[in-house]
Amino acid sequence: MKSEKKGGGQPRSSFSGRLGYVLAVAGSAVGLGNIWRFPYLAAKYGGGIFLLVYLILMFTFGYALIVSETALGRMTKRSPVGAFQAFGRSWTFRFGGWMNAIIPMVIVSYYCAIGGWVTKYLFEYLRGSTALLANDGYFSDFIAESSGAEFWFVLFSLAVLVVLLAGVKQGVERVSKVMMPLLVLLAIFVAGYSITRPGAMEGVKYLLVPNFENFSWMTVVAAMGQMFYSLSIAMGILYTYGSYMKKEVDIEKSTYQVGIFDTAIAILAGLMIIPAVFAFSGGAPETLNAGPSLMFITIPKVFASMGFGTGAGLTFFLLVFMAALTSAISLAESGVSTFEDQLGLSRTKAILLMGAIILLLGSASSMGFGALSGLTVLGMTVLDFLDFLANSLMMPVAALATCLLVTRVVGLDKIAQEVEQSSAFNGKRLYGFFMKYLAPVFILIVLLSSIASVLGWISM
Ligand code: PHE
Repeated sequence: MKSEKKGGGQPRSSFSGRLGYVLAVAGSAVGLGNIWRFPYLAAKYGGGIFLLVYLILMFTFGYALIVSETALGRMTKRSPVGAFQAFGRSWTFRFGGWMNAIIPMVIVSYYCAIGGWVTKYLFEYLRGSTALLANDGYFSDFIAESSGAEFWFVLFSLAVLVVLLAGVKQGVERVSKVMMPLLVLLAIFVAGYSITRPGAMEGVKYLLVPNFENFSWMTVVAAMGQMFYSLSIAMGILYTYGSYMKKEVDIEKSTYQVGIFDTAIAILAGLMIIPAVFAFSGGAPETLNAGPSLMFITIPKVFASMGFGTGAGLTFFLLVFMAALTSAISLAESGVSTFEDQLGLSRTKAILLMGAIILLLGSASSMGFGALSGLTVLGMTVLDFLDFLANSLMMPVAALATCLLVTRVVGLDKIAQEVEQSSAFNGKRLYGFFMKYLAPVFILIVLLSSIASVLGWISM
């Protein structure tokens, strides 16, 4: 992309061609969602059955929502708040736009807390603490000692803010693009190593073969939240990317390419981590249920058992650090541009406001396992709560807003015309069906069950 967009009326820069677009979106899609979040959810919510539900959701909803958001962005040449308001000015349009725009601001705060954990591990591998990191309890001690976790969180967040303030975002993204293929290669190598450990095959089976006994409604809720998160759907991001997309780029094809690529990386990360749970912890249920800690508990054991584990660990955490940094930058940038465009703030002020939100919510997340462990919301730690709030409550609402905008206001035909500017719209009829019936009904059911579970009406 050539230059930063600003405001409404000025000409926007654009991606060069489909490859440029796919690389940019894939670069933003691949992040902690694939490497950290997917494996722990898959481990917790049933392995193969989670993957199956995830794939079904991705090829139905995921596809329909990506096409919609991208087309709306390209049609209006606006980020979400502006895109919604291009069709109406009543409070419902404002609400829909803002819902999409606020989500990245919530996510980036706890994303930076995880980014801090990654930075800490990177630092420890630099010091050669390979064996130490693999000790049972190392990670839980680290996050329980709040000042340590908070220090690394602040450091990571400052890196994000400095990159934005110094205006070197594109430079960092360029570096990250070069590193992305390396991350894929290293992940293939680590997954290969991991699945060939004794006992690891059980884990491969657990991840890849659906076992219907493991199915629960929560599998569906979690898979849907993960799909939103990982593909950067229902958080305004794809509106913005769509607004930079040229008219001749094939929306449908690029959507498939991004979806498949993103899922492949998630499965690869699952293959690094889940078989290792079986090889090194005997598939213990408490490890499978470790949640956000899983990657940090498991991966160091894999590296500690390798001959050249320190080098591999160092490279791995460096690459994950870059993926996390670029994702955090693009999430924060989305918040910053909303503040600039909608509140009329100068860029510096907008960055400072974003920074204040990150420091506040992110500190509460990072200290939630130690000093603030008494502070729980609806029985969840702050980090888990923000994650739940964004993925299980706000994103379904944002996605629903997009469905309604498409079917009730803009009209499916207009979206089809937008898509057809570049090529035939092969999945047009299915797309219409997904947007009109399947997606809204299903999203509503998931949303209501999330609310019911939070209120303790149903247990999932
Ligand atoms: N999809 C990214 C991930 O999987 C998160 C993200 C969302 C990054 C939006 C940038 C923009 O980690």
